[in-house]
Amino acid sequence: MLVDSGSDTAAALLTWYDRHARRLPWRAEGGAAPDPYRVWLSEVMLQQTTVAAVKSYFEKFTRLWPTVDALAAADDADVMSAWAGLGYYARARNLIACARAVSASGGRFPDTEAELLALPGIGGYTAAAVAAIAFGRRAVVVDANVERVVTRLFAVDQPLPAARPAIAQLTDQITPTARAGDFAQAMMDLGATICTPRSPTCALCPLMQGCAARMAGTQESYPRKVPKRAKPLRKATLFWVECEGAVLLVRRPASGLLGGMRALPTGPWTEEDPGEAGAPAALSWRKVGQGRHVFTHFALDYRVLAAEVPSRLNGGEWWPRATLDEAGLPTLFARAAQIAMVEPL
Ligand code: ADE
Repeated sequence: MLVDSGSDTAAALLTWYDRHARRLPWRAEGGAAPDPYRVWLSEVMLQQTTVAAVKSYFEKFTRLWPTVDALAAADDADVMSAWAGLGYYARARNLIACARAVSASGGRFPDTEAELLALPGIGGYTAAAVAAIAFGRRAVVVDANVERVVTRLFAVDQPLPAARPAIAQLTDQITPTARAGDFAQAMMDLGATICTPRSPTCALCPLMQGCAARMAGTQESYPRKVPKRAKPLRKATLFWVECEGAVLLVRRPASGLLGGMRALPTGPWTEEDPGEAGAPAALSWRKVGQGRHVFTHFALDYRVLAAEVPSRLNGGEWWPRATLDEAGLPTLFARAAQIAMVEPL
């Protein structure tokens, strides 16, 4: 039984937020109006990624492209390189498409959830978050932190993902009309700092009084989840070809996994070991190392084969070894490059 009403929950949380809000580069401070471009950019970056990982990317993007018009005018390849390492590269392609759509219609983001939702790459979460945080609209914003807080507050026993509609409805119940953006961010901050997945600091929580899980002592068991199935495993060979201090890089096809990103040459990623299939040339390969990279839907066991050539092969781009960290390689290939570079050829 919940003792607290929705509006008491919001009031207690907002009072806490006024004292304890995290200082984050995309947040407006001292009563300044938030910049919708910065709010949108941060929310796209923060999907599936932690605040700690996003900060330096956010700073780089806003330095390179301080406005939505600047981002819309950027070269796709520069944006993809700047995004390298953040993962989920479809987000970067959608980011460019969205910036261009906004810029083409005058450079101002629409201020309602419905219009935001119509933009490329803006889904339900981002539309709600931007409407609330940038424009102060009442919107129901649910990310993983909010899911944890709400399932504990109301002791939602149904497991994720089936519980999502119920969680949205309960979040709606406690979302205030005024300061909906602060409320959303307060829920996120509470989830990130106090209502943490393990060992939540309930004694410091502004919502402790009304928290059903806390009263039952079961807070750590929420959110309930259906056990995950093991990810399928694929195998790959990545090729490191060097010529006079330069390395052969290729561009991945525009669609598909890591689409449009620079990469090391690689053959098929299959259940069976692909051997040297897909090698850029028939060379005498030497194994320099191996690793495992975990993607969302599968894990990849890869080996790195290296060879040196006396003259540059055709196709691809020869990148100086010394500045490879500027090539914008996704994490898988950046790791493979590290492996290859510690091995003398
Ligand atoms: N996670 C996603 N959006 C966030 C925000 N605006 N503040 C803190 N954490 C977040």
